Amino acid sequence: MKAIVQERYGSPDDLDLREVDKPVVGDDEVLVRVRAASIHPDVWHVVAGRPYVLRLMGAGFSKPRNPIPGTDMAGIVESVGKSVTRFRPGDPVFGETIVAHQWIHGGAFAEYVAVHQDLLAPKPANVTFEQAASVPASGLIALQNLRGLSQWRPGQRVLINGAGGGVGALALQMMKAHGAHVTAVDSTGKLGMLRSLGADEVVDYRREDFTQRGIRYNLIFDVPGNRPFSIIRRALEPDGRYVLIGHEGFGASRKRVFGLVPHFLKLMALSRFVKQLQGPGLPMPTKKEAIAVLRELLESGKITPIIDSTFHLSEVREAFRRMIEGETQGKVILTPSEAVEQRHAASE
Ligand SMILES: NC(=O)c1ccc[n+]([C@@H]2O[C@H](COP(=O)([O-])OP(=O)(O)OC[C@H]3O[C@@H](n4cnc5c(N)ncnc54)[C@H](OP(=O)(O)O)[C@@H]3O)[C@@H](O)[C@H]2O)c1
Repeated sequence: MKAIVQERYGSPDDLDLREVDKPVVGDDEVLVRVRAASIHPDVWHVVAGRPYVLRLMGAGFSKPRNPIPGTDMAGIVESVGKSVTRFRPGDPVFGETIVAHQWIHGGAFAEYVAVHQDLLAPKPANVTFEQAASVPASGLIALQNLRGLSQWRPGQRVLINGAGGGVGALALQMMKAHGAHVTAVDSTGKLGMLRSLGADEVVDYRREDFTQRGIRYNLIFDVPGNRPFSIIRRALEPDGRYVLIGHEGFGASRKRVFGLVPHFLKLMALSRFVKQLQGPGLPMPTKKEAIAVLRELLESGKITPIIDSTFHLSEVREAFRRMIEGETQGKVILTPSEAVEQRHAASE
């Protein structure tokens, strides 16, 4: 099969399209013929091998342990392992390809990938393969950090910082579907998209500092995480919550060794004393639970993924550049479909 292969850490320029062996499925695995896979910042982290700590956390010490990047995909079931009961050949599915919570390549940038059955859900008929492939990692990050949606109450004031990105756009729609009043913060070019996704108010972070608006929120969901909590706190209700996701700006944060890990550890230590940093005492949904919730949200139309652009596997370097440039309106998708390759060749 054709797949993107990376033999050393570096940059998207170290990614090549090659012929490799098709994966062999284990007993609990499903072989999926990939129709679409999405690019997100965590794939970039493993391609770059930064922060360096990820190399000690299972990604591979001197080069990626799994040479094929990508963790999010949608496609058609080709065959199933002998213990698989939930899927049959021909089923359209979507999901995440990595079992653990870690920075690691997951083999999705290929024509076929083997995925544990618990990480897959049937693809709802009302979304395209591209849309379904854009959701898993971002949706899991949003749902797991929100500890599900049941604890949040209609009418609560929620601010989503970085609402125009992969995680923020889904968190915005989830909280709107849950009846929250949502203020969405991002750059100028994304504000129209945020309004169309249901944001009640939008703030351009290049022109206005949301901590200076004199408004206090019940929840601040912070994707960039580029301000100290002491400043964020000015905009939080005394019993409000702060949820940090954290974004390293594709290396711009210059935290090359440990990334944002020290920042998270500091907040964890502070949370013993500060209620706004304490979790709600609810368990994190498992990946199996979260993918089932994401399927329901897609099927009911409560979340509508936005696709910025679709590239053929052979255009993987351009696809990464498009994501890193930061002008995207929605997710960047990769596909093995020859139709996209021909369309792009024809437009050149
Ligand atoms: N905490 C966790 O549990 C966890 C787990 C896994 C992954 N992660 C991290 O989660 C992040 C996922 O982010 P994503 O997929 O949503 O990224 P993304 O698609 O790149 O979106 C980030 C958004 O933030 C905006 N932004 C940048 N600087 C900003 C600022 N100063 N103020 C407000 N908005 C700003 C960007 O807009 P412009 O580019 O237009 O400026 C962009 O729209 C990754 O960094 C990943 O490593 C967290």
